[in-house]
Amino acid sequence: MEYVPIMIGFRSERRVRESHVQEIPFPLNGRAPSGFWNRKLEFWAEVICTHPPMVSKVVPDENLPSLHRSEFATALEKITIQRHAFNLKVLKPDPFPQLLLWGENVALLVLSGIANSRFRFRHADAHTLCFVHRGQGRIATDFGLLHFDEGDFIVLPRGTTYAMESDSEITLLMYEFPQRILRPYHYWLEGYPFAATAPVPAEPVEIFNPPDPGTTEIRSVYIKYHHGMRARLEYPFSPFDAVAWEGKLYPFVLHLKDIRTLSSVNFHLDPKALTVFVTEDGAASVQAFLPRRVHSLPYPHQNYCTEILFNHQGYHARPEIKDGFLTLHPPGTFHGPDVRALARQRQELPDPPQNLPWRNEIGILLESKGPVAVLPAAEPLEVTTYENSWLQQYQEVVK
Ligand SMILES: [Fe+2]
Repeated sequence: MEYVPIMIGFRSERRVRESHVQEIPFPLNGRAPSGFWNRKLEFWAEVICTHPPMVSKVVPDENLPSLHRSEFATALEKITIQRHAFNLKVLKPDPFPQLLLWGENVALLVLSGIANSRFRFRHADAHTLCFVHRGQGRIATDFGLLHFDEGDFIVLPRGTTYAMESDSEITLLMYEFPQRILRPYHYWLEGYPFAATAPVPAEPVEIFNPPDPGTTEIRSVYIKYHHGMRARLEYPFSPFDAVAWEGKLYPFVLHLKDIRTLSSVNFHLDPKALTVFVTEDGAASVQAFLPRRVHSLPYPHQNYCTEILFNHQGYHARPEIKDGFLTLHPPGTFHGPDVRALARQRQELPDPPQNLPWRNEIGILLESKGPVAVLPAAEPLEVTTYENSWLQQYQEVVK
């Protein structure tokens, strides 16, 4: 049998601004068409733009939010075998995403508040996957414009320059991976977990992005590198000047409605069956629990990976976990549903297949093969009763 991959990239795309269709010949070939400039993102995407790649000033240190390597090492050393829950709703608004959890395979940041497009970012050593929990808005990128809404995934490849804008408050989870983000490939299940055409790439429309306050031409781009904001680059013009691009590495939005799910009438489907994204080295993956019929409650689980589950909406396996809560389950202990619900289930006959309960939940699970540490910014969000909640439920059951 031919070699069948278990993960693949995203399909090659090309986009051109409507006003420039006649001037930009495809396929792009590494030489900018007359009158334009070009740049490459790694070797996988070429962007045709109106300005040359140019930085007028590098400002290395402005007390930008950064952590030192030693602080990460300390956080990893302090890992305990403890189940954590965090309430992201109490996170204070900040124009910079807050780094809450960190490991070698993934970091989790949360952006909370009104997004201001004057804060432009580039992640120099991480691919970013965002999940929009709350709000809607726009993202200017150096490939073009994206629109996002509640429940969307947004992929920002490493090296993309971007700026978010919203009219009201948003809550955005930002998963950063040192490895490239791919999708699972199922030879026997074409089009799962989403059609190849489902990702909506950035459109190279004209983007108005005003200069920094108090200046006439400076646009600052904050460079995130080695665990923090390491520099501010000053651009003499807007970096969002793409008129066309082509390649297989590009920013895109994947709507939740375009993600397909699976369900079984005669066994409990493991979360791995619901994987939507996976990193190139397989060290981290993301699953989406979508509304579906379920055969049974999740089981108590002795996990190998560190599991980070975000409850976007209606996840009811544990009563103390409300919408907007995040849990972290390290290996070495177990996690599972409310013990009272398990006690009820063991006294009931299984539902006949035609009556399987509909679970109207949306949860986003991240699995990391390596350990993930809780950083100081997450500590005020901790739900302190979580670790003991299984014991309390058990005590209620034995009463
Ligand atoms: Fe689990």
